[in-house]
Amino acid sequence: MTPAERQAFILANTIAAPAPLVPEITLRTGGLSMPLWEAAALMDARPAVPPPYWAWAWAGGQALARHVLDHRELVRGRRVADIGCGGGIVAIAAALAGAESVSAIDLEVFAIEASRLNAIANGVTLELEEADPIGTDAGWDVVLVGDLWYEPELAARMAPWLRELAARGTAVLTGDPGRAHLPVEGLDELARYEVSTIVDLEDVTTKTVRVLRLTP
Ligand SMILES: C[S@@+](CC[C@H](N)C(=O)[O-])C[C@H]1O[C@@H](n2cnc3c(N)ncnc32)[C@H](O)[C@@H]1O
Repeated sequence: MTPAERQAFILANTIAAPAPLVPEITLRTGGLSMPLWEAAALMDARPAVPPPYWAWAWAGGQALARHVLDHRELVRGRRVADIGCGGGIVAIAAALAGAESVSAIDLEVFAIEASRLNAIANGVTLELEEADPIGTDAGWDVVLVGDLWYEPELAARMAPWLRELAARGTAVLTGDPGRAHLPVEGLDELARYEVSTIVDLEDVTTKTVRVLRLTP
């Protein structure tokens, strides 16, 4: 699929909706996850199409975006990266809060195209990168990680990398709703939020989400 075909798919299969905890940001939002995943897989020639995580603002990302918008000094004038940006809610929040630049990075190409559409709809500019950034350092001042602690292999690669960045002076913040693979040590809690969630995705209607900073 070309980028234009992916964008057309996203526009045809999602609606524009405000994120519940961050109503100032409107995102292309999916309905039920399985039919959307099946529709994407039918359109896409790739042998394995990942789940359409890009079609929702996840609880961890919503809380982190809320925190950034309510504490703009965390990102104002800084070079920021949003790791695993999905639909881009955290990156968009950082841009709205006055970041000098925002890299929105995701290894899934649908996420990049969803973030592109969402950035335009919210009137911000993002540097979009289809990549797995683990192990790299582009000299970011702030690294934001919304809801990425759901897989053991991913967490095992992500945690030491983020610790290295923090040790070099990068501010590393994550939003997490109690996923199984969040590191247990070296995190300072900055805030807690109650976030409305979609039962189809989370089996519950609300989650308590913590915004945490990795201790340098
Ligand atoms: C649960 S979603 C969270 C999306 C967004 N941060 C939010 O909170 O709404 C996780 C995202 O991380 C991306 N991802 C997973 N592993 C990654 C990696 N190693 N590098 C970049 N992106 C990754 C997935 O493609 C997916 O879009």
